[in-house]
Amino acid sequence: MTESTHLAAWRVAEEAFPRTGTAEEQLRFLAAYAILAPSIHNTQPWRFRIHGATLELYADRGRALRIADPRERTLIISCGAALFNIRTAMYYFGCRGTAQPFPEPRQADLLARVSLGGPMASVGAWASLFHAIPHRVTNRGTFDVRQIAPDILADLRSAARLEGGWLVPFTSQQARKQLESMIDEGSRIQFGNPDFRHELADWLRPGGDSEGVPRHAMGHAELPDYATSIIPFVIRAFNVGRRAAARNTRLAAGAPLLVCLGTARDDPLAWLNAGQALQRVLLTATANRLHASFLNQPIEVFKLRPRLLTLIERRGQPQILLRLGRGTRRTHTPRRRLDEVLAEDPGEDPGAAPDPYGMSA
Ligand SMILES: Cc1cc2nc3c(=O)[nH]c(=O)nc-3n(C[C@H](O)[C@H](O)[C@H](O)COP(=O)(O)O)c2cc1C
Repeated sequence: MTESTHLAAWRVAEEAFPRTGTAEEQLRFLAAYAILAPSIHNTQPWRFRIHGATLELYADRGRALRIADPRERTLIISCGAALFNIRTAMYYFGCRGTAQPFPEPRQADLLARVSLGGPMASVGAWASLFHAIPHRVTNRGTFDVRQIAPDILADLRSAARLEGGWLVPFTSQQARKQLESMIDEGSRIQFGNPDFRHELADWLRPGGDSEGVPRHAMGHAELPDYATSIIPFVIRAFNVGRRAAARNTRLAAGAPLLVCLGTARDDPLAWLNAGQALQRVLLTATANRLHASFLNQPIEVFKLRPRLLTLIERRGQPQILLRLGRGTRRTHTPRRRLDEVLAEDPGEDPGAAPDPYGMSA
């Protein structure tokens, strides 16, 4: 399959929304927006099942990162981002609806059930978020130095709050320096682990694929194609931690805005909410013509978390670190086809449902 086939998911035409169609047809259309969500390493760890007027969102734990994400925290955050896209599209198209998180405590893989209701009148507030969905892209390139206006920062903070999260900017030079030093240390620790490097390399797809991080998104615009082709091999074979750390701290240092997104708690429900808050923040940023990328090392390396918490002077659990600014236009990453992740026959099993969190009675 060609690269353009893998990018087809981004060309969803809103005029095609089946206003007079069945609930199933409408939910299928909404799911086309869900798969445009960001996900850790572009693993797209979600599955959907539609029956009648309900859509169920499942975690696809076969796509979990055993080394980088042993608690499957970022997997569930990614699914939360997909859920936020569904809600946004649902309200934009004027559908009344609800999203119930973890509706069946015995089924830990069933993350949310969306129930579609009848039409509703007002959709205005969701329009800018909705229109940002197909434009959002992770940008690992450098940003220009223009500062971000205080009212945009206020909008980003309220976006996180509206989804039950919080967003704290790193404003003082001293806080930024300390954060950079944690990003440096976290990058070295992660890359010092050969298993982490192997897992990361497995999801780098310079040759093009419907999943994983493609060549153009790796953030090595300075390298010729033949050099990016061998990045997975280099990462597997050598500890490139010093280089990765230098690159990440340089990106952090040059970012007009660095923020930490967090939640009060640190459990699957909090992660699902963090994902929705993340996507609301990213879409708000996109609507304001900002780009973002992730610098999560001080959160993923567990021993750095207490230092990070002290730095942000806030109670709660940090979930995501973002850099934001204005960058140059980027090409999207690929997505799997909707029919690969969607089961419409109620008899089809969207995936086995073990209970890793012991949520079953
Ligand atoms: C929870 C989560 C964690 C992520 N962590 C990182 C990260 O540490 N480093 C990074 O470069 N990208 C990170 N990403 C970005 C993904 O790699 C990106 O979303 C994916 O490749 C799809 O590309 P897109 O966002 O441009 O659609 C993360 C995304 C999510 C949702």
